[in-house]
Amino acid sequence: MNQSARLGDPASSTLPFHVAIIMDGSGRWARARGLARAAGHRAGTSAVSRVIQAAPDCGIGTLTLHAFSSNNWGRPGGEVRALFETFEEFLRHQTGAWRASGIRLNVFGRRDRLPERLLAAILAAEAATARGTRLHLRLAIDYSSREALHQAAQALNGPFTAEELSRQLAASAGEPEAPPDVDLLIRTGGELRLSDFMVWECAYAELYFTPRLWPDFTAEDLRAAVREFHARDRRFGRIPESVAV
Ligand code: IPE
Ligand code: IPE
Ligand code: MG
Repeated sequence: MNQSARLGDPASSTLPFHVAIIMDGSGRWARARGLARAAGHRAGTSAVSRVIQAAPDCGIGTLTLHAFSSNNWGRPGGEVRALFETFEEFLRHQTGAWRASGIRLNVFGRRDRLPERLLAAILAAEAATARGTRLHLRLAIDYSSREALHQAAQALNGPFTAEELSRQLAASAGEPEAPPDVDLLIRTGGELRLSDFMVWECAYAELYFTPRLWPDFTAEDLRAAVREFHARDRRFGRIPESVAV
């Protein structure tokens, strides 16, 4: 995919494409079973593995998963700690398999507030998978789209192009390069909002909301979302000459 494609440029909608997922509903999944919310977050890691495994065959080249928003710091300390422990354990457990199957991991968001053990697991996973070319897996941890935009604008400090802003956004969030525009944004858990997630990168994304709670999300659910994406007419504001008469 052309990394410098303009936002809304039809060229950016060719395969392989970029799918982003707001993985929501794990707390409700646990509550429905009489479990602690942390158990829902742990169960959610199985859904993460399922979508990562299914993604390449769906034509997905970049898969971005929202794991922890900066506003999630507003949750009870015990839940935040459980989330970070879950992330750390998951990363350590998956790194070898990702490396073997050509998956490259990059985590984006603030790193200065993360526990040292989690940060070490992130750095180790990123280094071990750096040569992967089959799927670019991006994980948002302590991420706020508004904060990223604000920081990038401050860093650019003067006139800048859209491409420069995209690159600076990635750099400010600790990423080596700007991701392609998001083609399809999926949100599980039934809420109909973006919750401060990648608002610049999703400017022309197709939005797909499902009531399915994240731990229940399957490879078939991903395929259904991708099928619907391909059935949509992405016009990018244009109409062809043939229908303009
Ligand atoms: C999403 O699930 C995971 C995070 C926000 C970390 P939630 O924890 O928000 O689950 P619900 O929305 O309360 O069910
Ligand atoms: C969004 O879910 C963040 C993640 C899925 C990581 P939230 O549950 O935090 O969002 P709100 O509170 O419904 O907006
Ligand atoms: Mg939620």
